[in-house]
Amino acid sequence: MSSKPFKAVIPAAGLGTRFLPATKAMPKEMLPVVDKPAIQYVVEEATQSGIEDILIIIGRNKNNLSNHFDSVPELESNLLKKGDRQRLQKVQESTDLADIHFVRQGEPKGLGHAVLRARSHVGDSPFAVLLGDDLIDERDPLLTTMLAEHERTGAAIIALLEVDPDHIHMYGAAAVEPTDAEGVVRVSALVEKPAKEDAPSNLAVIGRYVLPPSIFEILERTEPGKGGEIQLTDALQEMAADPDGPGVYGVVFRGRRYDTGDRLDYIKAIVQLAADREDLGPDLRPWFKEFAATL
Ligand code: G1P
Repeated sequence: MSSKPFKAVIPAAGLGTRFLPATKAMPKEMLPVVDKPAIQYVVEEATQSGIEDILIIIGRNKNNLSNHFDSVPELESNLLKKGDRQRLQKVQESTDLADIHFVRQGEPKGLGHAVLRARSHVGDSPFAVLLGDDLIDERDPLLTTMLAEHERTGAAIIALLEVDPDHIHMYGAAAVEPTDAEGVVRVSALVEKPAKEDAPSNLAVIGRYVLPPSIFEILERTEPGKGGEIQLTDALQEMAADPDGPGVYGVVFRGRRYDTGDRLDYIKAIVQLAADREDLGPDLRPWFKEFAATL
């Protein structure tokens, strides 16, 4: 099993079409969730699991993303002059988080293609993939459990969430078998975004993966699938079906997840997270009750 520290890969090269025009000149991963861009939550989650080396796969509008993880001398000296240490700390937080690298995807050919772009940075070690559309509450650790499960089994580990069968067509869906470990299932098959009637279960793949480096060889030969894109789910299906391969296991997540992938869920995520915060919750919660009563 691996002894080297894990690296994380964060694909952030999608076109963000669901959020146009906000994403016309800005990657969707930079949309604020309360007062932090979505990608910062994801980077923080990786660092909280002990990951220090992060590769972000960027597309067009890359400057916004890379600037966010850089220092801003004029802003910082201005805040310092004013003695506003609290805001200064907020500005510097994202710079000091981790060792962050960037690579361009080139063409947006799908999640599998984006992950393949990480090959030379990741090398011959297992690594984590985190998607910015899914925010996992820091009080309900998921990635740490998945990394430990990989250490134990050497397999590819995916995160699964039970969803309403009417929603399974928006996700990868898994056929699973129980294992002796609590909350861990063996994945026997995966289908990307199946119609409800073709879905093997209502267990949806959510955006956290721990992958062995052999995924790269599979991705090299993975043909475009759903939507004409190279799908990570298809490469994982091949791994799950290979009796001589490392296999695929799923950690079934029962904690709090916030979906920022579409507009309605994004609004819900902001309200939920803000309502829980010490600085905003006490004012937001009573206002929200009053507002809800008018609906
Ligand atoms: C991707 C994956 C899908 C997974 C989803 C989780 O789809 O292809 O299997 O269920 O992320 O967020 P996307 O939402 O990028 O279309």
